[in-house]
Amino acid sequence: MNIRPRRLRTSAAMRNLVRETRVDASSLVLPVFVVDGLDEPRPIASMPGVVQHSLDSLRAEATRCAELGVGGIDIFGVPALRDAVGSAAWAPDGILNRATAAVHAEVGDAVVVIADTCLDEFTDHGHCGVVTADGRVDNDATLPLYEQMAVAQAEAGAHMVSPSGMMDGQVAAIRRALDEAGHIDVGILAYSAKYASALFGPFREAVDSQLKGDRRTYQMDPGNAREGLKEALLDIAEGADVVMVKPATFYLDVLSDVRAAVQVPVAAYQVSGEYAMLEAAAANGWIDRERAIGESLVSIRRAGADTVLTYWAAEVAGWLREGR
Ligand code: PBG
Repeated sequence: MNIRPRRLRTSAAMRNLVRETRVDASSLVLPVFVVDGLDEPRPIASMPGVVQHSLDSLRAEATRCAELGVGGIDIFGVPALRDAVGSAAWAPDGILNRATAAVHAEVGDAVVVIADTCLDEFTDHGHCGVVTADGRVDNDATLPLYEQMAVAQAEAGAHMVSPSGMMDGQVAAIRRALDEAGHIDVGILAYSAKYASALFGPFREAVDSQLKGDRRTYQMDPGNAREGLKEALLDIAEGADVVMVKPATFYLDVLSDVRAAVQVPVAAYQVSGEYAMLEAAAANGWIDRERAIGESLVSIRRAGADTVLTYWAAEVAGWLREGR
């Protein structure tokens, strides 16, 4: 035998030396939840280890992320009051905008501050856009609301806005609104291939979602891979700086296809259900928690993600710092 692949597996140092794919803290983004009027952080039952933050605990979490070298923080807000159009989303004193300003004040430019640009946390029906009298989600009537929301987020200090509502034309509308308001340097992290997934279940608890029914008229059908690429290309044409595939693990093929076809950075969102499944198995002693988390992140990076949104971002950054 003149070729023995096992030679490169003989020690940890050897394996580390030749590893193709690595995870580093600066490529991870921590999604966080902040609730208006909360005094103390509140645990989320379906996401053990993740909390709904108060403004104070969010500030502390942001500082921890900066210290650990986490690449970004993606902020989701839960308002005190909801209405049909989600007006707390663009109110400058709405929770998400206050939280964005607070996080920016804490981390400056050391961590990329990303605000979620979608109405579902803010509407009393829980949909990502405005709803017509006959119950349809109205694409074009929603766009001006996203524009207002994105501009408010930029004004609050977001480095990037991240439209996640899957309305057609949302990236173009937001890009134009940001530019007209002078925010030419605020980027768009576009949720491009976002599938109507059962894996968003725990997130709905985290944001106290009011949704009844589902989002299948705007989020993508899980059977469609080519369409994921189409959505990513559309978003790039509309001015997206980064395109995202979501969820991550069940959609690694889509991620890999998108990576191969585009020149912009590609992100993937390891969503709440991915987190919950792995935590539940680990809590039962059925899998090695730390190894499974590491392997899940490596697989997402290997499939082509430059950036990974994960609820383990800060914890993993801590492990990496310790050389684990
Ligand atoms: C909607 C949004 C959702 C998630 C991120 N943004 C939920 C949904 O589309 O129903 C899910 C994230 C997760 O499950 O971790 N703005």
